[in-house]
Amino acid sequence: MLDALPNRPDLPAEIARRRTFAIISHPDAGKTTLTEKFLLFGGAIQMAGQVRAKGEARRTRSDFMQMEKDRGISVSASAMSFDFREFRFNLVDTPGHSDFSEDTYRTLTAVDAAVMVIDGAKGVESQTQKLFEVCRLRDLPILTFCNKMDRESRDTFDIIDEIQENLAIDVTPASWPIGVGRDFLGCYDMLRDRLELMDRADRNRVAESIEIDGLEDPKLAEHIPAHLLDQLREEVEMARELLPKLDPQAVLEGHMTPIWFGSAINSFGVKELMDGIGTYGPEPQVQRAEPRQISPDEKKVTGFVFKVQANMDPKHRDRVAFVRLASGHFHRGMKLTHVRSKKSMSITNPVLFLASDRELAEEAWAGDIIGIPNHGQLRIGDTLTEGEAIRVSGIPSFAPELLQSCRAGDPLKSKHLEKALMQFAEEGAAKVFKPEIGSGFIVGVVGALQFEVLASRIELEYGLPVRFEPSQFTSARWASGPKQALDKFIDANKQHIAHDNDGDIVYLTRLQWDIDRIGRDHPDVTLSATKEMMV
Ligand code: G4P
Repeated sequence: MLDALPNRPDLPAEIARRRTFAIISHPDAGKTTLTEKFLLFGGAIQMAGQVRAKGEARRTRSDFMQMEKDRGISVSASAMSFDFREFRFNLVDTPGHSDFSEDTYRTLTAVDAAVMVIDGAKGVESQTQKLFEVCRLRDLPILTFCNKMDRESRDTFDIIDEIQENLAIDVTPASWPIGVGRDFLGCYDMLRDRLELMDRADRNRVAESIEIDGLEDPKLAEHIPAHLLDQLREEVEMARELLPKLDPQAVLEGHMTPIWFGSAINSFGVKELMDGIGTYGPEPQVQRAEPRQISPDEKKVTGFVFKVQANMDPKHRDRVAFVRLASGHFHRGMKLTHVRSKKSMSITNPVLFLASDRELAEEAWAGDIIGIPNHGQLRIGDTLTEGEAIRVSGIPSFAPELLQSCRAGDPLKSKHLEKALMQFAEEGAAKVFKPEIGSGFIVGVVGALQFEVLASRIELEYGLPVRFEPSQFTSARWASGPKQALDKFIDANKQHIAHDNDGDIVYLTRLQWDIDRIGRDHPDVTLSATKEMMV
C-alpha cells in the first residue's frame, strides 16, 4: 500500500476523489505524449495518436488556432476531465511557450498540483525552471516524471541531484530505473516493492508488473541480467541511504517532489505516475479569497474564472469562461451570483471538457473545471457564488513588459479594431490601453511573440489586417488614489494617461525617472505594476 495522506473525512467522497492538476515541461520533453497516455489509460480516447491528430479530429483543443498550428506551440490553455481508477482527473493544459508567463500563472491558480516532465537526457531545462518558479509562488505540490528513459539518459543520481540543486526542492525516488538506453528494462517500484518491466514491442500496452519480496527476492534474477541486478541493488541501497524518504506532508507543502522514471511513448511508468497523482494528489484545496477563504466541502457553490477563451467555435462569436469550482456541488440550471456586477446568472449550458468532446455538465463538484459560454459578462478573476459577496484573490494582472501601438490597416476600421482588441484584453491575451490624447491603441504583452499571435488572430477572426509599431512608451503602471489627487495627477500628466479595458487609469512612460517623479509630485497617487483582477 502507498503511504497516503490521511483521508479527509470532512470531504464528500465526490470531492475527495478529484485531482485537478497541470503538466509543466520544457517543449519537447513529452508533455503531449504523456497527456495522450493519461487520456488513453483514463479511457477518454481509444487510440494513441488522437491527441496529435490534426484538423477536425483534434480534440485536446490546445491548439485550435492557425498560429498555434503553424508554430507548433499551444497558446491557450484548455481543460480535460477523465476517470482513472476511483479518481476523477481534471487536467488543465498550460500554455506551452515561455512568452506567456502571465497566462501560465493564472492557469496554475486553478490547479492543486503540477506534474513536471523532464527529459532524462536533458534534465532541468530553462522552461522547466521558469514554470517551476511559478508553481513555487503558490507552493503547489509537484510530482516529477523523468521521461524518455528508453533513450540514452543521464545517471539517475545526477538527474536527482540536478533537480535538488537547481530547483531547491527535496527529491525522493518513487521508482528506480534498471539499465539505460537500449538496455533499459523498466523500473523497480520503490514505493510498492514491485518490478515493472517495459514492453518495447507494444507501445500502448501497460508494463508487466511483478510482485516481489524486496530486492533480495531470487525472482528478480529471472527478469534482470546479473550485472544490471547488481547495479540496481547497489543503487537502490545508496538511494535509500542518501535520499530523503517520501513524506506526503512535505509533498503537499511543495518542499518535496517524488520522481517516477519512465517512457511516455512506450506507456511505461505512466500508470504508476497516475497512481501517484491519486495517492499524493492532493484533493481540492482551500481557496484564498476575500473576506474569507473557501473550503471545498462548503455546501454552497463558489467558483472563479481563471481563463476566458473566445472563438472556440469559429462559427459563433461565443466566449467560454473556464471556471474552477472552489466549493460545493453544482447542478446545471443553477442561479449563481456574479459578484462583480451583483447580478444573478442562470447557468443553463455549462460544459465539461471531457477529452473526447465538450459535453453539457449536468453536475460538477469542487475541483472541477466547467466552461460557461457567455457574451462577455464573465471576466478573468470573477467569482460566482450562491449570493455571498466573496471574491477569490490572488489572480493578478501583471504590467506588460512590451508595449506597441496598434493601428488598423484601414483607418476607417478603427471601431472594429477596438472591438477585437477589447476581446483579447478580456481573454487576458494582452493589455489594451486607450490613450487620453490621440487616436489608436497601445497594446501591452509579456512576450514579443504575442504581438504576432494577436495580429494573426485579428486578421483571422475579424478579417482585419493590423500593424503593430514601436510605441513611445515602454512601461505601464496602474494608478490609484483618492479622487482629488488622481484628478490632479491626470491633469498634470495628460500625455501619459490612458485607460485599460476596465476603464482603470494607467500611466504610460518610457522612464523609471518619470515613475519616481510621480512618487514625489503626487504622494497620494500609487503607481502599481500589478492589478488584482477583481473589482
Ligand atoms: P511536448 O509536448 O513536451 O513538446 O513533447 P511531445 O510529447 O510532443 O514529445 C516530443 C518528442 O519526443 C516527440 O517526438 C515524441 O514522440 C518524443 N517522445 C515522447 N516521449 C518519449 C519517450 O518516452 N521516448 C522517446 N524516445 N521519445 C519520446 P517527435 O519526433 O518530435 O514527434 P513524433 O514524430 O514522434 O510525433
